[in-house]
Amino acid sequence: TWTMANFRDVARGKIRAQVGTGRVICGLSGGVDSSVAAALIHEAIGDQLVCIFVDHGLLRAGEADDVIRVFRDRFNITLIHRDASDLFFAALAGVADPEQKRKIIGGLFIDVFEQEAAKLGGADFLAQGTLYPDVIESVSVTGGPSAVIKSHHNVGGLPARMRMQLVEPLRELFKDEVRALGRELGLPETLVGRHPFPGPGLAIRIPGPVDREKVKILQRADAIYLEEIRAAGLYDAIWQAFVALLPVRSVGVMGDGRTYDFACALRAVTSTDGMTADVFPFDMQFLTRVAGRIVGEVRGINRVTYDITSKPPGTIEWE
Ligand code: XMP
Repeated sequence: TWTMANFRDVARGKIRAQVGTGRVICGLSGGVDSSVAAALIHEAIGDQLVCIFVDHGLLRAGEADDVIRVFRDRFNITLIHRDASDLFFAALAGVADPEQKRKIIGGLFIDVFEQEAAKLGGADFLAQGTLYPDVIESVSVTGGPSAVIKSHHNVGGLPARMRMQLVEPLRELFKDEVRALGRELGLPETLVGRHPFPGPGLAIRIPGPVDREKVKILQRADAIYLEEIRAAGLYDAIWQAFVALLPVRSVGVMGDGRTYDFACALRAVTSTDGMTADVFPFDMQFLTRVAGRIVGEVRGINRVTYDITSKPPGTIEWE
Protein backbone atom coordinates (compact mmCIF):
# COMPACT_ATOMS: atom_id res chain seq x y z
CA THR A 1 0.00 0.00 0.00
CA TRP A 2 0.97 3.55 -0.67
CA THR A 3 2.02 5.48 2.42
CA MET A 4 3.74 8.77 3.15
CA ALA A 5 6.79 6.78 4.25
CA ASN A 6 6.95 5.22 0.75
CA PHE A 7 6.47 8.60 -0.89
CA ARG A 8 9.27 10.01 1.21
CA ASP A 9 11.70 7.25 0.15
CA VAL A 10 10.81 7.45 -3.52
CA ALA A 11 10.93 11.26 -3.54
CA ARG A 12 14.36 11.27 -1.92
CA GLY A 13 15.68 9.02 -4.66
CA LYS A 14 14.14 11.14 -7.40
CA ILE A 15 15.61 14.33 -5.98
CA ARG A 16 19.09 12.77 -5.82
CA ALA A 17 18.78 11.51 -9.37
CA GLN A 18 17.67 14.91 -10.68
CA VAL A 19 20.15 17.03 -8.78
CA GLY A 20 23.31 14.93 -8.83
CA THR A 21 26.04 16.98 -7.20
CA GLY A 22 24.41 20.32 -8.13
CA ARG A 23 23.42 23.07 -5.77
CA VAL A 24 19.78 23.76 -4.99
CA ILE A 25 18.38 27.00 -3.58
CA CYS A 26 14.98 27.26 -2.00
CA GLY A 27 13.01 30.29 -0.84
CA LEU A 28 11.49 29.78 2.60
CA SER A 29 8.45 31.81 3.58
CA GLY A 30 7.31 30.16 6.80
CA GLY A 31 4.44 28.53 4.90
CA VAL A 32 3.70 24.82 4.84
CA ASP A 33 4.59 24.07 1.20
CA SER A 34 8.04 25.61 1.02
CA SER A 35 8.85 24.22 4.48
CA VAL A 36 7.96 20.64 3.58
CA ALA A 37 9.78 20.91 0.24
CA ALA A 38 12.90 22.20 1.98
CA ALA A 39 12.85 19.52 4.69
CA LEU A 40 12.40 16.75 2.10
CA ILE A 41 15.13 18.05 -0.20
CA HIS A 42 17.48 18.50 2.73
CA GLU A 43 16.92 14.90 3.71
CA ALA A 44 17.85 13.88 0.17
CA ILE A 45 20.90 16.05 -0.50
CA GLY A 46 21.98 17.68 2.79
CA ASP A 47 24.25 20.70 2.37
CA GLN A 48 23.75 20.88 -1.38
CA LEU A 49 20.56 22.71 -0.39
CA VAL A 50 20.75 26.35 0.66
CA CYS A 51 17.56 28.06 1.84
CA ILE A 52 17.02 31.78 1.45
CA PHE A 53 14.53 33.45 3.74
CA VAL A 54 13.68 36.94 2.48
CA ASP A 55 12.21 38.59 5.56
CA HIS A 56 10.00 41.49 4.48
CA GLY A 57 9.11 42.43 8.04
CA LEU A 58 5.44 41.72 7.34
CA LEU A 59 5.10 38.33 8.99
CA ARG A 60 3.06 37.62 12.11
CA ALA A 61 4.65 38.14 15.52
CA GLY A 62 7.35 35.54 16.15
CA GLU A 63 7.13 33.80 12.78
CA ALA A 64 10.46 34.95 11.40
CA ASP A 65 12.15 33.58 14.53
CA ASP A 66 10.19 30.33 14.17
CA VAL A 67 11.50 29.81 10.64
CA ILE A 68 15.08 30.27 11.82
CA ARG A 69 14.63 28.08 14.88
CA VAL A 70 13.09 25.19 12.98
CA PHE A 71 15.28 25.15 9.90
CA ARG A 72 18.65 26.38 11.06
CA ASP A 73 18.70 25.21 14.66
CA ARG A 74 16.65 22.03 14.55
CA PHE A 75 17.13 20.70 11.02
CA ASN A 76 20.62 22.12 10.54
CA ILE A 77 19.69 23.43 7.12
CA THR A 78 21.95 26.09 5.65
CA LEU A 79 19.71 29.13 5.88
CA ILE A 80 20.39 32.67 4.75
CA HIS A 81 18.14 35.05 6.65
CA ARG A 82 18.02 38.40 4.92
CA ASP A 83 16.25 41.05 6.97
CA ALA A 84 15.11 43.30 4.14
CA SER A 85 12.40 45.07 6.13
CA ASP A 86 14.01 48.52 5.73
CA LEU A 87 13.79 48.16 1.95
CA PHE A 88 10.19 47.01 2.03
CA PHE A 89 9.00 49.73 4.42
CA ALA A 90 10.80 52.40 2.41
CA ALA A 91 9.24 51.20 -0.85
CA LEU A 92 5.77 50.97 0.71
CA ALA A 93 5.83 54.40 2.37
CA GLY A 94 2.70 56.35 1.48
CA VAL A 95 1.36 53.67 -0.89
CA ALA A 96 -2.36 53.05 -0.32
CA ASP A 97 -3.52 51.08 -3.36
CA PRO A 98 -3.79 47.33 -2.63
CA GLU A 99 -2.55 46.13 -6.03
CA GLN A 100 0.30 48.62 -5.96
CA LYS A 101 1.35 47.27 -2.56
CA ARG A 102 1.30 43.72 -3.92
CA LYS A 103 3.41 44.72 -6.94
CA ILE A 104 5.98 46.49 -4.80
CA ILE A 105 6.28 43.60 -2.38
CA GLY A 106 6.36 40.93 -5.09
CA GLY A 107 8.96 42.82 -7.14
CA LEU A 108 11.22 43.58 -4.20
CA PHE A 109 10.94 40.01 -2.97
CA ILE A 110 12.32 38.74 -6.26
CA ASP A 111 15.07 41.38 -6.36
CA VAL A 112 16.29 40.51 -2.87
CA PHE A 113 16.08 36.78 -3.54
CA GLU A 114 18.16 37.22 -6.69
CA GLN A 115 20.72 39.33 -4.83
CA GLU A 116 21.15 36.62 -2.22
CA ALA A 117 21.37 33.90 -4.85
CA ALA A 118 24.02 35.93 -6.70
CA LYS A 119 26.04 36.34 -3.49
CA LEU A 120 26.16 32.54 -3.28
CA GLY A 121 27.53 32.42 -6.80
CA GLY A 122 24.24 31.12 -8.16
CA ALA A 123 22.81 27.63 -8.15
CA ASP A 124 21.89 24.90 -10.61
CA PHE A 125 18.40 24.26 -9.30
CA LEU A 126 15.56 26.20 -7.77
CA ALA A 127 13.29 24.30 -5.37
CA GLN A 128 9.63 25.20 -5.16
CA GLY A 129 6.76 23.90 -3.07
CA THR A 130 4.40 23.61 -6.05
CA LEU A 131 1.39 21.38 -5.31
CA TYR A 132 -0.86 19.46 -7.65
CA PRO A 133 -3.66 22.05 -7.51
CA ASP A 134 -1.12 24.76 -8.49
CA VAL A 135 -0.09 22.68 -11.49
CA ILE A 136 -3.73 22.31 -12.61
CA GLU A 137 -4.49 25.97 -12.00
CA SER A 138 -1.56 27.34 -13.97
CA VAL A 139 -2.61 25.19 -16.92
CA SER A 140 -6.28 26.12 -16.84
CA VAL A 141 -6.05 29.80 -15.90
CA THR A 142 -4.77 31.35 -19.09
CA GLY A 143 -6.97 34.39 -19.57
CA GLY A 144 -10.12 36.21 -18.58
CA PRO A 145 -11.00 37.84 -15.31
CA SER A 146 -10.00 34.88 -13.15
CA ALA A 147 -6.42 35.20 -14.43
CA VAL A 148 -6.37 38.78 -13.23
CA ILE A 149 -7.76 37.84 -9.85
CA LYS A 150 -5.20 35.10 -9.43
CA SER A 151 -2.21 36.91 -10.89
CA HIS A 152 -1.13 38.49 -7.62
CA HIS A 153 -1.51 35.39 -5.54
CA ASN A 154 1.94 33.92 -5.84
CA VAL A 155 4.48 36.41 -4.60
CA GLY A 156 7.11 33.68 -4.39
CA GLY A 157 7.01 32.94 -8.13
CA LEU A 158 10.37 33.74 -9.62
CA PRO A 159 11.08 35.04 -13.11
CA ALA A 160 12.31 32.93 -15.98
CA ARG A 161 15.50 35.01 -16.15
CA MET A 162 16.82 33.09 -13.17
CA ARG A 163 17.26 30.17 -15.59
CA MET A 164 17.51 27.35 -13.15
CA GLN A 165 15.92 23.96 -13.43
CA LEU A 166 13.04 23.51 -11.03
CA VAL A 167 12.95 20.91 -8.30
CA GLU A 168 9.32 20.43 -7.33
CA PRO A 169 9.00 17.31 -5.20
CA LEU A 170 5.41 18.07 -4.08
CA ARG A 171 3.91 18.35 -7.58
CA GLU A 172 1.77 15.24 -7.19
CA LEU A 173 0.41 16.07 -3.75
CA PHE A 174 -2.68 17.76 -2.40
CA LYS A 175 -2.47 20.02 0.62
CA ASP A 176 -3.55 17.43 3.19
CA GLU A 177 -0.90 15.04 1.82
CA VAL A 178 1.75 17.74 2.11
CA ARG A 179 0.77 18.18 5.75
CA ALA A 180 1.00 14.43 6.32
CA LEU A 181 4.44 14.39 4.70
CA GLY A 182 5.53 17.32 6.88
CA ARG A 183 4.54 15.37 9.99
CA GLU A 184 6.35 12.30 8.66
CA LEU A 185 9.48 14.46 8.25
CA GLY A 186 9.19 15.69 11.84
CA LEU A 187 8.20 19.29 11.20
CA PRO A 188 6.40 20.84 14.19
CA GLU A 189 2.61 20.71 14.24
CA THR A 190 2.40 24.50 14.61
CA LEU A 191 4.05 24.78 11.20
CA VAL A 192 2.40 21.83 9.44
CA GLY A 193 -1.13 22.73 10.53
CA ARG A 194 -0.76 26.45 9.93
CA HIS A 195 -3.52 28.50 8.32
CA PRO A 196 -2.78 29.89 4.84
CA PHE A 197 -0.94 33.22 4.95
CA PRO A 198 -0.70 35.61 2.00
CA GLY A 199 2.67 36.39 0.42
CA PRO A 200 2.32 40.17 0.92
CA GLY A 201 1.73 39.43 4.59
CA LEU A 202 0.41 42.00 7.02
CA ALA A 203 0.65 44.75 4.39
CA ILE A 204 -2.73 43.68 3.01
CA ARG A 205 -4.20 43.53 6.53
CA ILE A 206 -3.54 47.25 7.02
CA PRO A 207 -5.79 49.07 4.54
CA GLY A 208 -4.03 52.25 3.38
CA PRO A 209 -0.35 53.09 3.80
CA VAL A 210 1.77 50.70 5.86
CA ASP A 211 4.53 51.59 8.29
CA ARG A 212 6.57 49.79 10.92
CA GLU A 213 4.57 51.25 13.78
CA LYS A 214 1.25 50.00 12.39
CA VAL A 215 2.72 46.57 11.73
CA LYS A 216 3.87 46.35 15.36
CA ILE A 217 0.42 47.30 16.65
CA LEU A 218 -1.22 44.77 14.34
CA GLN A 219 1.23 42.00 15.31
CA ARG A 220 0.38 42.45 18.99
CA ALA A 221 -3.38 42.36 18.47
CA ASP A 222 -3.14 39.43 16.04
CA ALA A 223 -1.01 37.42 18.49
CA ILE A 224 -3.60 37.87 21.26
CA TYR A 225 -6.42 36.82 18.94
CA LEU A 226 -4.61 33.68 17.79
CA GLU A 227 -3.56 32.83 21.34
CA GLU A 228 -7.21 32.93 22.42
CA ILE A 229 -8.31 30.90 19.40
CA ARG A 230 -5.75 28.20 20.20
CA ALA A 231 -6.61 28.26 23.91
CA ALA A 232 -10.28 27.75 23.06
CA GLY A 233 -9.37 24.76 20.87
CA LEU A 234 -10.81 26.44 17.77
CA TYR A 235 -7.72 26.83 15.57
CA ASP A 236 -8.24 23.70 13.48
CA ALA A 237 -11.95 24.42 12.95
CA ILE A 238 -11.06 27.72 11.24
CA TRP A 239 -9.66 28.19 7.72
CA GLN A 240 -8.06 31.57 8.41
CA ALA A 241 -8.22 33.96 11.33
CA PHE A 242 -6.46 37.30 11.63
CA VAL A 243 -6.77 40.89 12.73
CA ALA A 244 -6.94 43.79 10.26
CA LEU A 245 -5.81 47.20 11.50
CA LEU A 246 -8.26 49.78 10.21
CA PRO A 247 -7.26 53.27 9.07
CA VAL A 248 -9.88 54.73 11.39
CA ARG A 249 -9.41 56.41 14.75
CA SER A 250 -12.19 56.52 17.26
CA VAL A 251 -12.71 57.98 20.69
CA GLY A 252 -12.59 55.84 23.82
CA VAL A 253 -12.23 56.17 27.58
CA MET A 254 -9.40 54.66 29.57
CA GLY A 255 -9.30 55.37 33.30
CA ASP A 256 -9.82 59.10 33.70
CA GLY A 257 -8.60 59.87 30.20
CA ARG A 258 -9.90 59.99 26.69
CA THR A 259 -8.22 57.96 23.98
CA TYR A 260 -8.18 58.52 20.24
CA ASP A 261 -6.74 55.37 18.72
CA PHE A 262 -7.12 52.88 15.87
CA ALA A 263 -10.00 50.47 15.43
CA CYS A 264 -9.33 46.90 14.34
CA ALA A 265 -11.42 44.13 12.84
CA LEU A 266 -11.24 40.47 13.81
CA ARG A 267 -11.72 38.08 10.89
CA ALA A 268 -12.30 34.32 11.03
CA VAL A 269 -13.76 32.18 8.28
CA THR A 270 -14.41 28.57 7.40
CA SER A 271 -13.67 27.43 3.85
CA THR A 272 -12.41 24.45 1.90
CA ASP A 273 -10.38 26.22 -0.77
CA GLY A 274 -10.50 29.96 -0.06
CA MET A 275 -12.78 30.58 -3.07
CA THR A 276 -15.88 30.90 -0.90
CA ALA A 277 -15.96 31.41 2.84
CA ASP A 278 -18.38 31.60 5.74
CA VAL A 279 -18.02 33.65 8.89
CA PHE A 280 -16.92 31.59 11.89
CA PRO A 281 -19.68 31.64 14.55
CA PHE A 282 -17.74 32.55 17.71
CA ASP A 283 -19.83 32.94 20.81
CA MET A 284 -20.17 36.45 22.14
CA GLN A 285 -18.20 35.72 25.30
CA PHE A 286 -15.20 34.69 23.24
CA LEU A 287 -15.36 37.85 21.16
CA THR A 288 -15.75 40.19 24.13
CA ARG A 289 -12.85 38.47 25.91
CA VAL A 290 -10.59 39.00 22.89
CA ALA A 291 -11.75 42.61 22.55
CA GLY A 292 -11.07 43.27 26.24
CA ARG A 293 -7.57 41.84 25.98
CA ILE A 294 -6.68 43.72 22.80
CA VAL A 295 -7.87 47.10 24.06
CA GLY A 296 -6.31 46.46 27.47
CA GLU A 297 -2.94 45.17 26.22
CA VAL A 298 -2.25 46.81 22.87
CA ARG A 299 -1.41 50.47 22.96
CA GLY A 300 -2.78 52.13 19.83
CA ILE A 301 -6.06 50.18 19.57
CA ASN A 302 -9.15 51.21 21.51
CA ARG A 303 -11.96 49.58 19.52
CA VAL A 304 -12.53 46.06 18.20
CA THR A 305 -15.11 44.94 15.64
CA TYR A 306 -15.96 41.50 14.23
CA ASP A 307 -16.19 41.22 10.46
CA ILE A 308 -19.35 39.22 9.66
CA THR A 309 -19.08 39.34 5.85
CA SER A 310 -19.04 36.07 3.93
CA LYS A 311 -17.27 35.50 0.59
CA PRO A 312 -18.78 36.29 -1.81
CA PRO A 313 -19.57 39.17 -1.80
CA GLY A 314 -16.70 39.98 0.59
CA THR A 315 -13.16 38.65 0.25
CA ILE A 316 -11.29 36.91 3.05
CA GLU A 317 -8.61 39.60 3.23
CA TRP A 318 -9.46 43.29 3.53
CA GLU A 319 -7.39 44.14 0.46
P1 XMP B 1 -9.34 36.72 -0.83
O1 XMP B 1 -8.98 37.87 0.06
O2 XMP B 1 -9.15 37.00 -2.29
O3 XMP B 1 -8.29 35.59 -0.49
O4 XMP B 1 -10.70 36.14 -0.52
C1 XMP B 1 -8.39 34.24 -0.90
C2 XMP B 1 -7.16 33.52 -0.37
O5 XMP B 1 -5.99 34.03 -1.00
C3 XMP B 1 -5.10 34.60 -0.05
N1 XMP B 1 -4.53 35.80 -0.66
C4 XMP B 1 -3.28 35.91 -1.12
N2 XMP B 1 -2.26 35.02 -1.10
N3 XMP B 1 -0.88 36.62 -2.17
C5 XMP B 1 -1.05 35.39 -1.62
O6 XMP B 1 -0.09 34.61 -1.58
C6 XMP B 1 -1.86 37.55 -2.23
O7 XMP B 1 -1.65 38.66 -2.73
C7 XMP B 1 -3.12 37.17 -1.67
N4 XMP B 1 -4.32 37.81 -1.56
C8 XMP B 1 -5.16 36.96 -0.94
C9 XMP B 1 -5.95 34.88 1.18
O8 XMP B 1 -5.17 34.90 2.37
C10 XMP B 1 -6.93 33.73 1.14
O9 XMP B 1 -6.36 32.54 1.64
